[in-house]
Amino acid sequence: THRYAKVLQLTLAVLKPDAVAHPIIVEALQQRILENNFIIVRSKDIVWRRRDSEKFYSEHAGRFFYQRLVEFMSSGPMRAYVLAREDAISSWRELMGPTKVFRAHYTSPSSLRAQYGLTDTRNTTHGSDSVESALREISFFFPEFNAEEWLEREKQRAR
Ligand code: PPS
Repeated sequence: THRYAKVLQLTLAVLKPDAVAHPIIVEALQQRILENNFIIVRSKDIVWRRRDSEKFYSEHAGRFFYQRLVEFMSSGPMRAYVLAREDAISSWRELMGPTKVFRAHYTSPSSLRAQYGLTDTRNTTHGSDSVESALREISFFFPEFNAEEWLEREKQRAR
């Protein structure tokens, strides 16, 4: 690969329980995913037990928001997606906007969190923040899906 090659990536995107509680918001979010040229490779609806939530966010254990985050993410159904695009990881994070909703409102008013987020916890969406976390998080939600194999196959096809 050379320096300016655009790299196809996979990322994990999650619509959190605050979003999934409202079908019209799920519809709007899915529309934004497709409008922004992401390909939906896999999707599923999922409800976490508290221990799933604790495991997923274990790196935040001890932070002041950990308990409320864990509780919220196991409070109702979510929808998870494996999304593909060039630069999928940073593109999805840019589309989401910043974690904190007040910041989203003034730095990125058209972002998903600005438009649909309620609080810093109930902030509509999650997205992986690196190649490593994307692989880890995709297999957490989609253990039956082999991300590395999928990417390798796409690379072969593009040749
Ligand atoms: S950090 O500091 O960069 O690790 O935090 P960040 O990745 O932005 O957020 C981690 C997840 O915790 C949720 N959360 C909060 N973050 C910051 N402040 C408050 N008060 C807070 N409450 C909850 C935040 O939504 C992030 O969740 P995910 O699912 O990773 O987006």
